[in-house]
Amino acid sequence: MLLQVLGTAAGGGVPQWNCACPGCSGARAHPHWRRRHASLAVQASEGRWYLVNATPDIGDQIEDCPALHPGPGSRRTPIAGLVLTDAELDHTLGIARLREAGAGGLELLATGAVREALLTRLRLEAVIGPYTPLTWRNLPRERPEPLTADSTVAISAIPVSGKRPRYAAGSSSSGVDPMDPWVVALCLTDRATGATAVYAPALAAWPDALQSAVTEADCVIVDGTFWDDEEPRRTGVSTRTATGMGHLPIDGPGGTAERLAPLRARCLYTHLNNTNPLVDPGAPQHERLADRGIEVAGDGMVIDL
Ligand code: MLT
Ligand code: MN
Ligand code: ZN
Repeated sequence: MLLQVLGTAAGGGVPQWNCACPGCSGARAHPHWRRRHASLAVQASEGRWYLVNATPDIGDQIEDCPALHPGPGSRRTPIAGLVLTDAELDHTLGIARLREAGAGGLELLATGAVREALLTRLRLEAVIGPYTPLTWRNLPRERPEPLTADSTVAISAIPVSGKRPRYAAGSSSSGVDPMDPWVVALCLTDRATGATAVYAPALAAWPDALQSAVTEADCVIVDGTFWDDEEPRRTGVSTRTATGMGHLPIDGPGGTAERLAPLRARCLYTHLNNTNPLVDPGAPQHERLADRGIEVAGDGMVIDL
């Protein structure tokens, strides 16, 4: 199974357009600090890829990944569809960017709650439909499904939390089951080799089903938005803690590092906020993670399982 890391930043990216914090300023001064919005490409079969989440950087992310380039033929793309882990804007704004798909349409795998938010709150189908048809597929839960009929990669979703995007706050009157998850972790399995990866860029909670999945996995890529719980308050980006903002912190008691350290899987953080000290490649926090066998994912990383 082949995974390509297309981006590793939280909403805003690194640098963020209106921010001069040490991370953003550092990224302006040192291009190797830069990170695009968190996204992953998964090879479903030879020459067929799914993108996990559609970020505001999606056009540049495709251009920087030769496996995703079109051809042969002027309008043949290797991108088979999109998988959404949630409905947050940093993971969905890029859908509109793909409207040139034209008559071929776009396939989207999402939960019912995410689909409804995009259709009724963002009015995505009403806006994008006149350019390209959207085909929706429910993300499978208990029973994994191959990404495409001939794909060796099977996908399933593990419910993580009911954290809604701010634009979808408050209950809606749609027919979606209120228990339908707003945020999921993806479980990707190579049916030929049995290799398994878990991708969870937004973790407001760590449910038992996620713990079971990461215990079995060969590679785990998770939410590394904030280093510690106080970071958003200390840096002035929010009046809430990391946990209060729906992101379990990396460090400290109850942090995700202590969950990852005992795993046999290769573990990496993604979705770094620009306030996270890990944005500086020379920060001592990298060593603290390395001591526990944990890595920070980088844009352009290729993971072959
Ligand atoms: C999040 O990860 O919590 C959201 O993407 C925040 C945002 O809207 O930027
Ligand atoms: Mn986000
Ligand atoms: Zn910043």
